[in-house]
Amino acid sequence: MLEITLQRPQTSSAANAPPHFSNLVVPIRSLGENHRERIRAHLKALDASDRYYRFGFNASDDQIDRYVAGLDFDRDEIFGIYNRHLTLIAVAHLAFSIDMQVSPSSEFGVSVLPRARGRGYGARLFDRAVMHARNQGVRTMFVHALSENTAMLKIARNAGAHIERDGAEAEAHLSLEPATLNTQWAEIVEEHMAQSNYQFKVHARQLQDTFSRLQAIWLPHRHTDVLGTKPR
Ligand SMILES: CC(C)(COP(=O)(O)OP(=O)(O)OC[C@H]1O[C@@H](n2cnc3c(N)ncnc32)[C@H](O)[C@@H]1OP(=O)(O)O)[C@@H](O)C(=O)NCCC(=O)NCCS
Repeated sequence: MLEITLQRPQTSSAANAPPHFSNLVVPIRSLGENHRERIRAHLKALDASDRYYRFGFNASDDQIDRYVAGLDFDRDEIFGIYNRHLTLIAVAHLAFSIDMQVSPSSEFGVSVLPRARGRGYGARLFDRAVMHARNQGVRTMFVHALSENTAMLKIARNAGAHIERDGAEAEAHLSLEPATLNTQWAEIVEEHMAQSNYQFKVHARQLQDTFSRLQAIWLPHRHTDVLGTKPR
């Protein structure tokens, strides 16, 4: 099956340089109510250690259920990255302060499935959240993480955050610049590209399912579909 890899336009010298994750444009989309079940499945796929890193405690399935049920898609922003099988491989939650007029701040939490780590998705989600937060008038973004969470603290530090450690816990805070026309346009364009990419994956998946069904009718004894893969 085809998968689109989106990359920022490169200059000729950059094109010759070794690939670096900062050059990747990942289709990160804003998630709404109809993605709630997939967010739940994503979080429940995390093992105990990852749940501890993500939530700061050993979140049980019931606690994840309550967290997901409480997600407010109108107030907060949830971002996700889907793979070509429409599995949600990364999810970020940008929670806004209750009173944005008095204290325009937000808190960032993220998780990437183990098999998709080390590809820059965590950092890209952070960048996307920063852009959205700026466009919403947020002036400070916080991340709470365990002091031993090297990857998360690296993401925050690379973005310019100040990190304060307090024993086993750490708090990163990043001061944000006001929004510009550029950040506002960039967010619109990125969201549009991510939505298109998602629709493409949905249609590709439907096409593959249709081929598999037709093949099951025409060639009931074959065990592979027309694309040469085993039907799921
Ligand atoms: C933290 C997490 C989101 C990172 O996701 P990721 O997609 O693997 O991160 P990236 O690929 O964007 O890497 C970001 C940076 O961390 C570094 N990094 C990644 N994994 C690392 C590890 N295990 N140890 C040290 N550094 C690591 C990368 O090299 C990169 O730094 P660089 O750009 O300077 O090279 C992921 O490990 C995760 O989901 N962990 C469980 C949940 C969690 O800890 N959430 C954060 C608390 S809210």
